[in-house]
Amino acid sequence: MHDELRAVLDLMPDEALVRRAGREFWVGHLHGQPVVAVLSRIGKVAAATTATLLITEFNCSRILFTGVAGGLHAAVRVGDVVVARELLQHDMDASPLFPRWEVPLTGRSRWPADAAWTTLVEAAAQRALQAAGAQAQAALGLAGRGPRLHTGLIVSGDRFVSTQAESAALRTALPDALAVEMEGAAVAQVCADFGVPLAVVRTISDRADEHAALDFSRFVAEVASRYSARLVEAVMDALNAGESAASG
Ligand code: ADE
Repeated sequence: MHDELRAVLDLMPDEALVRRAGREFWVGHLHGQPVVAVLSRIGKVAAATTATLLITEFNCSRILFTGVAGGLHAAVRVGDVVVARELLQHDMDASPLFPRWEVPLTGRSRWPADAAWTTLVEAAAQRALQAAGAQAQAALGLAGRGPRLHTGLIVSGDRFVSTQAESAALRTALPDALAVEMEGAAVAQVCADFGVPLAVVRTISDRADEHAALDFSRFVAEVASRYSARLVEAVMDALNAGESAASG
């Protein structure tokens, strides 16, 4: 979302704008690491195009996808963070020709995130959550427990899930799904095609029910930008630490 990108661009001292396919790619550095920052845009096709351009036009060697998602699993609450280990397109269904959710001609319905990159990003997300979590809780007036980090399956589809009936149906069909959004699994498919490591981190903005649209808007404006920026900073610091350890 725009608020999230703005917060990331504020951390880049030298960003230069490159326009491609109606998108604005910001090329520069963040905590010393060479980066390209861009809005994925919304929906699977748009995000797949953006990911393809990052790889083919900008030679990105790995992708970090941050954003928000609706919580599906009972344990996943607003303000929590979900790191994807696997991604699936919940609206892909070419049955009876292919099993439900399988992407035809790939033999695959679940697309793994890159294990090593995701482990680094998960540790950074944990640190970022400690920093931004208390602030977020206060901003949203969330009572009770602090925000938690979950790791597992994220499902994607070209629908904003905003009814109890639809989120319950997803929970029944895919009991291990933690969160639902509109892009991650498409980007995972592109990254698998090109052999580019992907990590996906989503902050939970809503519970994919009748309150979703309102919760989502409020969350994006008040909290998501802070989360994304802290996460990106923590990931860059981890990369810098890894590089100095390797050269030291
Ligand atoms: N992104 C954030 N909340 C969502 C929802 N409820 N459905 C789909 N994508 C989302």
